[in-house]
Amino acid sequence: MILQFDFNMAEWKYKWWQKTTVYQIYPRSFKDSTGNGIGDLQGIISKLDYLEELGIETIWFSPFFDSPQQDHGYDIRDFRSIAPEYGTLKDFNQLLKEMHDRNMKMVLDFVLNHTSIDHPWFIESASSRDNPKRNWYIWRDGKKSGGRKPPNNWTTMTGGCAWLYYENTDQWVYFHFLPSMIDLNYRNPEVKEEMFNTMRFWLDKGVDGFRLDILHAIYEDEHLINDKFSWTIIPSDKKVDTLFHKHKYDLNLPETFDFALELREVMDEYEPERFLVGEVFGSIEEIKKYYGPNNNGLHMCFLFEFASTPFDPKKYISLLSRIEKALPFPFTPTFVYGNHDIDRYISLLKNNFHKAKILATMQLTLRGVPFIYYGEKIGMPNVRFKLKTSEDPIGRKFSWFPMPQLSRLIGFSLTRDRCRTPMQWNNEKNAGFSSNIEIEPWLKVSDTFEKINVEKEQKNPASLLNCYKRLLKVRKENIALQEGELQLIENEKLERTYISYTRGHKTQKIFIYLNFTKKELLIKTPIEKPELLFSTLSNRKGIDTEAYNGNIKLTPLEGIIFKKNKK
Ligand code: GLC
Repeated sequence: MILQFDFNMAEWKYKWWQKTTVYQIYPRSFKDSTGNGIGDLQGIISKLDYLEELGIETIWFSPFFDSPQQDHGYDIRDFRSIAPEYGTLKDFNQLLKEMHDRNMKMVLDFVLNHTSIDHPWFIESASSRDNPKRNWYIWRDGKKSGGRKPPNNWTTMTGGCAWLYYENTDQWVYFHFLPSMIDLNYRNPEVKEEMFNTMRFWLDKGVDGFRLDILHAIYEDEHLINDKFSWTIIPSDKKVDTLFHKHKYDLNLPETFDFALELREVMDEYEPERFLVGEVFGSIEEIKKYYGPNNNGLHMCFLFEFASTPFDPKKYISLLSRIEKALPFPFTPTFVYGNHDIDRYISLLKNNFHKAKILATMQLTLRGVPFIYYGEKIGMPNVRFKLKTSEDPIGRKFSWFPMPQLSRLIGFSLTRDRCRTPMQWNNEKNAGFSSNIEIEPWLKVSDTFEKINVEKEQKNPASLLNCYKRLLKVRKENIALQEGELQLIENEKLERTYISYTRGHKTQKIFIYLNFTKKELLIKTPIEKPELLFSTLSNRKGIDTEAYNGNIKLTPLEGIIFKKNKK
């Protein structure tokens, strides 16, 4: 049933999570306090002052729960305890308290879709057909001669058959990602109940939200209908088809959209409000279904198309118009350039820091929630790694590929190690990542660390880091940037050169102009005496429209924010 969306904008009270900014920490790579080459919770705690000073409001942590670390924490062995290499529950409690004391919010990564193959539930489940945990996972008989053929033709997100055969019980079990991570069976109410209670376990501790890992894969077709053929090889942000498979029966099922509503009900048991952000894939229209027909599903979903859009104003304008159309207020879009799975955007921009500043300005001034990946603020680039020795299991899975040629051809990286290297804090050995300078960190540090590091950028007013810091401050201080309506300013003639839009609030109107070209631009001023709030150039003093005949002059690759006060 489709409910009518009935809402009165004038009465809408903005929620904290609709206007926050989220910073993602990949715990393994952030800060190592014990000197073993792996980041940990105490390391993170030691950097909270830095994050607070930067203006970070909410932190999402990639999983730090107990895990054999086959997929670096996304393969969970115990959803309610902390992996010893990262710390203990006591460290967790301290981290949460120290964040809340600083008025920061904590978002945990919640992997509902699967458990590690080493999880006690799976060990039990695999042990016999009549084990009480058997139905916690999806076991099926095989096909044809002696059942030695998988139950159907489904393939995994990383390619290859999605079924694993267990000789002891002569059945196959389903997994959607890697064989070390087996999908839970959400058609079993016991599984749902257990996972909802796990959410409550963390919410009771005071956690402020969850990022939901591959939520679109939660349900599969009950009758195991075979997948149809697709011409698509590499999945895109708009389509889930992969390696010649359509994935119609194992992804984005109607049951999964309903599940989003149930998850929301659990969250709504808590005050003050907490939030859910879904990692789901598909077209924006499909993703919208996770928000719920009455905005009563996930609070937000990642919109990855933003991350893969080339540096072209026309493309961004078209994407932004589509987002606004599909997710009008009060639906909350998200803006993401990177995370622990995708190439770093500074590398896609060929290390052009001016371009990065333009994109950062856009990300922090649009209507919605920006997600910023650790290292992004200082411009940490991708690092090359060999597939054979890749830490990332996907890299090893594809180690037979002619990597350099292939990645150039498809513009796609097969090892996610590239974007997970240790945080570059300073120019000491190991970039200040580990307390032990003799240790080899779990992934090698990028050799850019002497040039690109926090300490150095903090001292330089024109650095990317200080640009983000100034942007976060402007966003925090101006209500229109948090709550204002977004309006794209049409400019057909110039749409290949710049983007302009406004954020309008009843007390304030803010204008954002972004010059995407390497040329100066003169743009007719929309208001008299615009008051400069920010420029990507740290030394711009103001906006002198008189000197340019009523025009605003933008220098090459400059972004500015200015305002008109209504009162
Ligand atoms: C998500 C995570 C990724 C992980 C996968 C399986 O895509 O972001 O890192 O490997 O799910 O849990």
